[in-house]
Amino acid sequence: MRAFKAHLLGLAPYPYQKVEAPVKLDQNESPFDLPLPLKEEALRRLARLPWNRYPEIHAEGLRRRLAGLLDWPEEGIVLAPGSNLLILALAVAAEEVLDLSPSFPHYAHAARMAGTPYRTLPLREGFSLPLEEALASFQGGVFFLPNPHAPTGTLFAEEALRALAERAREVGGLLVVDEAYREFAGTDFSHLGRGNPHVALLRTFSKAFSLGGIRAGYLLAAPEVAQVVREVLPPFVLPAHTGAILEVVLENPGYVGEVVETVRSERERVYGRLLSHPTWRPHRSHTNFLLVRTPDAAEAFGHLLAQGILVRRQDHYPGLSGCIRVTVGLKEEMDAFLKAAFEVAYA
Ligand SMILES: Cc1ncc(COP(=O)(O)O)c(C=O)c1O
Repeated sequence: MRAFKAHLLGLAPYPYQKVEAPVKLDQNESPFDLPLPLKEEALRRLARLPWNRYPEIHAEGLRRRLAGLLDWPEEGIVLAPGSNLLILALAVAAEEVLDLSPSFPHYAHAARMAGTPYRTLPLREGFSLPLEEALASFQGGVFFLPNPHAPTGTLFAEEALRALAERAREVGGLLVVDEAYREFAGTDFSHLGRGNPHVALLRTFSKAFSLGGIRAGYLLAAPEVAQVVREVLPPFVLPAHTGAILEVVLENPGYVGEVVETVRSERERVYGRLLSHPTWRPHRSHTNFLLVRTPDAAEAFGHLLAQGILVRRQDHYPGLSGCIRVTVGLKEEMDAFLKAAFEVAYA
């Protein structure tokens, strides 16, 4: 094959395999669909749109709305069908990509796709941030830092992020704080990017906003950073239907609080119950999932699946031997999970 760049031929596929199961706890989705009245309103708006026309080139209307809601300059906002695409655009633009290991796998995957030099820093014992190493290693380029962290659920301290934000300014790099799970932690690190063009925030509608299927995320950055990312993305990248749905949820965000409250209280309940498990150890989480260390991830996964519960194995990541990741779902789903988890203990 001479059509493609050589580095793309050996690229490992994204680590996801579709498996059908009655209780689906494998993709960190919201267990709630968008409330029906909001879906109906979005459908009405969709019907009124001219489908033969291209949408706005850079989702100007929605950016204006977000700018007002978040008090962020409109020129510093980039909207895209999923924050994954923003990660790819940033990786294409980056001189170098830096991340943590383990971390959200798309940072490394995007860097490899883009042919951008990539380095990763192992987390410390207990999944803490290797701050000294991170400060020393960050010499420029783009540093992707999910906070709360995926796939461990850890929330890194504000002081560490401040130090990295200052380091980014010093070396002229860009610290990208990926806030995909921020609603479940109750955090907002956007202040780090106000007045520091070397910090950007990445956000998604796929989790707390219950819109995983709609594909939407955005970047908050300095206008000069956002400008580069917008130009790396194809024009008219946000589909009109995604835009119409976002308009409705931004006008009616009340349901998000209920999603977050339910997920947080279930997360704490399940975490608490798992503490008394004889062999499984949950890691404290600030997200909508729990990382659980078991004696054998393959066995735990197989046993849960046999009971109709689909989770995600994480034991292929460095430092995560025996680990599975369980999305926090509805109470009845988590009851089924707990029942199966405790059965394995006494099998
Ligand atoms: C840390 C992190 N960032 C980004 C994403 C991707 O989000 P999106 O659905 O907006 O592409 C995910 C999805 O699971 C994630 O875990």
